[in-house]
Amino acid sequence: MPKELDPELRERLLREAEGALDRSYAPYSSFHVGAAILTGSGRIQAAANVECASYGLSCCAERSAIFAAVAAEGPDLRIDAVAVATRPAAVAAPCGACRQVIWEFGREAVVLYPGEEGVCERTIAELLPAGFIL
Ligand code: THU
Repeated sequence: MPKELDPELRERLLREAEGALDRSYAPYSSFHVGAAILTGSGRIQAAANVECASYGLSCCAERSAIFAAVAAEGPDLRIDAVAVATRPAAVAAPCGACRQVIWEFGREAVVLYPGEEGVCERTIAELLPAGFIL
């Protein structure tokens, strides 16, 4: 069962995702995305999307945050929750690639993202029902 997110921690995670928006490098799409990861050790790792003139090399905010968390904590990283924010405001569930990477590190992760009516909360298993396993 996914862990229930403490309401205060949930707010902090959303604030950290918002805070990362200012660090987004998105000169091509002008779509700024911030993400914050709550790790199994209780740390919060935030990061933003990073684009490149060769568009396909760009990296989403969610994966930027996860890779930064692995760099900081090492390969035993676990993800309990992920929060996403965008500027401009938009409905923005994590893309398929990011869902697979979230799932890699947190089979029971809770994902918070801007939905049609405010923050939407789903488990990664709901967002990615049949993730790839190797
Ligand atoms: N983007 C993210 O950061 N996360 C997603 O889940 C989807 C898209 C970024 C990639 C690109 O920099 C911009 O949004 C427009 O696609």
